[in-house]
Amino acid sequence: MKVNNKHYRSIWYEKDSNTVKIIDQRELPYSFKVIDLDSLEDFRIAIKDMAVRGAPLIGATAAFGIAKQMQKDCTDKALDNAWEVLNATRPTAINLRWALNRCKDYLSQVATTDRAKKAMELALEISDEDVEINRKIGEFGLDIISKISNQKKGDPVNILTHCNAGWLATVDWGTATSPMYQAYDKGIPVKIWVDETRPRNQGALTSWELNSHGIDHEYIVDNTGGFLMQTGQVDMVIVGTDRTTAKGDVCNKIGTYLKALAAKDNEVPFYVALPSPTIDWTVYDGLKEIPIEERNEEEVSYVKGNDKNNEINSVKVTPEGTFGFNPAFDITPSSLITGLITENGVCNPNTQKLEDLFPSK
Ligand code: MRU
Repeated sequence: MKVNNKHYRSIWYEKDSNTVKIIDQRELPYSFKVIDLDSLEDFRIAIKDMAVRGAPLIGATAAFGIAKQMQKDCTDKALDNAWEVLNATRPTAINLRWALNRCKDYLSQVATTDRAKKAMELALEISDEDVEINRKIGEFGLDIISKISNQKKGDPVNILTHCNAGWLATVDWGTATSPMYQAYDKGIPVKIWVDETRPRNQGALTSWELNSHGIDHEYIVDNTGGFLMQTGQVDMVIVGTDRTTAKGDVCNKIGTYLKALAAKDNEVPFYVALPSPTIDWTVYDGLKEIPIEERNEEEVSYVKGNDKNNEINSVKVTPEGTFGFNPAFDITPSSLITGLITENGVCNPNTQKLEDLFPSK
């Protein structure tokens, strides 16, 4: 998407200088900085410290990490080690393991003399695929928004979203935001309610994106959504996902489940934008089978922002001796979901099987 009239992806490769570049999301929304990733350690830190974040982008970054490592050491041992190091960065988003397995399965069949070249080709392929998948999710989501817009006779469609499932969380377009961008670009009025998404405030990233695109939005604290739904101010919810089970249970940023409960109680349709690499076909019951990342308690007990001197700073909001508890994701059972918007179409997990959309899975 565009930043200051220039098109960016969230990760890209510059062939001439042989560099992988990312937008450093630790600096957003305060400043826009592009950094290079080169060593395996650079890639490990970028994922673990959330310079890159969002399930699809984590997967693409891992693929570029393998590719850069193969340029330095293309042995089987180095491939296995890169897989282990990158796989240990974050436990919940399945796109990480999906991308790493895809790279390892393919590259272990390639002669070591060709590995560096083929690994970079594969990382670029995974990136391009992600862009196309999200574009298609946007088309299916656009149909849903268009129908609501027609019912509202052209009044703005009010959409609530949680966390950042925007282009910054993918390679481009975003998952939950792709329908919003496509609706806006077609002239369909939309208004987005952006959950702040404590503790990391990824809602500020969503707001930064929507601002850059000119889409009407307001930033709300995480507890506001229920009230907005009760008072008829939300027409639909669209969120992303970090891992979705074969049954359609959705693991996404902490707080998603409470939005789904409020949506059910108020008959607000609740959609999840779901690229197929985020489906974990090996698990069925999300609550029992998906590992939930627990992050540092300081993300809860401190609040981070830009101070009056334009410097990023943290302030403590809890008393001495009180510690935060910080599970990063929760599970929304499929029974609360109206539709999973995939690149192959929309699935209501209560009446359809997700696997019917992916016969060759
Ligand atoms: O902890 P994060 O910021 O990596 O979590 C991101 C989310 O939960 C997103 O909603 C999810 O990855 C979907 S991204 C298209």
